[in-house]
Amino acid sequence: MTMPGPTQAFWQERFLSGQTAWDRGEPSPQLLAWLDSGALKPCRIAVPGCGSGWEVAELARRGFEVVGIDYTAAAVTRVRHLLAAQNLHPPIVQADVLQWQPDQPLDAVYEQTCLCAIHPASWVAYAQQLQRWLRPGGTLWALFMQVRRPEAETEGRALGPPYHCDMTAMQALFPTPHWRWPEPPHPAVPHPNGWRELAAPLTRF
Ligand SMILES: C[S@@+](CC[C@H](N)C(=O)[O-])C[C@H]1O[C@@H](n2cnc3c(N)ncnc32)[C@H](O)[C@@H]1O
Repeated sequence: MTMPGPTQAFWQERFLSGQTAWDRGEPSPQLLAWLDSGALKPCRIAVPGCGSGWEVAELARRGFEVVGIDYTAAAVTRVRHLLAAQNLHPPIVQADVLQWQPDQPLDAVYEQTCLCAIHPASWVAYAQQLQRWLRPGGTLWALFMQVRRPEAETEGRALGPPYHCDMTAMQALFPTPHWRWPEPPHPAVPHPNGWRELAAPLTRF
């Protein structure tokens, strides 16, 4: 059955035509904050939907055992160039995050704009993948994209990407007791598109 939402071809076209307004051109300030505070320490970590790979490069530079995953050929080419330019050599896997499995359980996943790039019809499958990838006690370092659109609310449409990651829906997607949430308020991180992300490290039970 074909699932609704963006395809690999959609993302390939976005990269080839330079329509990558989500791309900061540098690592996310929230990733740097988590790293600099010592909250996120070197470990086995995956970056799903890594795009141009700024966060993969930063994690590799800081000694993490990081793997970047993206199913779009143009993204994989970009991240490999970025890494080669910095003489970094973490694995980059061209795969669908709904299918990929790590060889061993991971300590952490850095989720930035992959969830909001996937149609909500596949969110439960993606959340189950994240839970499978992580070892018990591992952490999902999540940035939840906040993209309220009036027509989505008045007409009930799922509009995107990026799809709005409503925090009430996120509580249902990553529910207690499978996940432990930090106390709100969650830090708000400005996004290049003018939107913002809410940052929340979730512990997998
Ligand atoms: C909005 S971009 C974000 C890229 C990067 N995380 C960033 O913040 O710059 C979404 C990325 O997720 C990738 N992606 C979307 N759905 C995917 C899937 N099912 N499997 C693997 N990658 C996927 C796209 O190819 C694209 O590179």
